[in-house]
Amino acid sequence: MSEFILSVKNIMKRFPWGEGYLEVLKGASLEIESGKLTILSGPSGSGKSTLLYIIGGLERAESGEVTFQGELLNSYNDNKLDDYRNRRIGFVFQMHYLLPDFTALENVTMPALIGGESYAAARDRALSLLSDLSLLERRDHYPNQLSGGEQQRVAIARALVNSPQLILADEPTGDLDRENAGLLLKLFRKLVDHTGVSILVATHDAELAGKGDIAYNLYDGRIICSKGLAHD
Ligand SMILES: Nc1ncnc2c1ncn2[C@@H]1O[C@H](COP(=O)(O)OP(=O)(O)OP(=O)(O)O)[C@@H](O)[C@H]1O
Ligand SMILES: [Mg+2]
Repeated sequence: MSEFILSVKNIMKRFPWGEGYLEVLKGASLEIESGKLTILSGPSGSGKSTLLYIIGGLERAESGEVTFQGELLNSYNDNKLDDYRNRRIGFVFQMHYLLPDFTALENVTMPALIGGESYAAARDRALSLLSDLSLLERRDHYPNQLSGGEQQRVAIARALVNSPQLILADEPTGDLDRENAGLLLKLFRKLVDHTGVSILVATHDAELAGKGDIAYNLYDGRIICSKGLAHD
């Protein structure tokens, strides 16, 4: 029997627009299986980032439920929500949001230090992730001294440093060339197969969409499962 780390039920989300509203999510539902690579694809503007923000506790839906490990996200108090955002999940943003005054290594190390890790352990873990992502030689570069793809890989390493149970990656290959996109996919595959972490990737990259264990498609505010899970 499959086990779900997170489920999303009937999410409605709209943004005030002009005189009325722009309805983006119109009852979106999906399930993320533990230890699986799940892909959420859909055209640009379909609401993938919006849904990831809602799942990540960064944005509120009008209605619907997000359940993480059997508990409703809505029932979390501020402390629990902080812990969820900082330690349980790792968020790879579509815009990378690296801290400009810190080097690649410092950007990756920081969440581990904030999480209470010793400096030596945080640095070791950060170096190992930077190495997995072919960035060791760029560790002392500041974000403005890195290419777009390098910044993206630093942001990915940063999301992984606290060993979250769920990784939410928004268009993580958007700035990467084929070789580095392949490298990232290998890393994601290694993580799900060997550490049991669950990964949700939002992408409009059709090639990436085919590589997931489970694939969902977001269209006109709703989601259909196109691969992997048999829905009644
Ligand atoms: N704050 C906002 N106010 C009004 N409209 C918004 C706001 N944020 C997002 N939208 C609209 O909601 C829709 C969904 O946006 P979202 O960023 O979730 O799409 P996406 O699927 O991630 O697209 P992409 O593949 O281009 O990243 C878009 O049409 C966007 O213009
Ligand atoms: Mg997006």
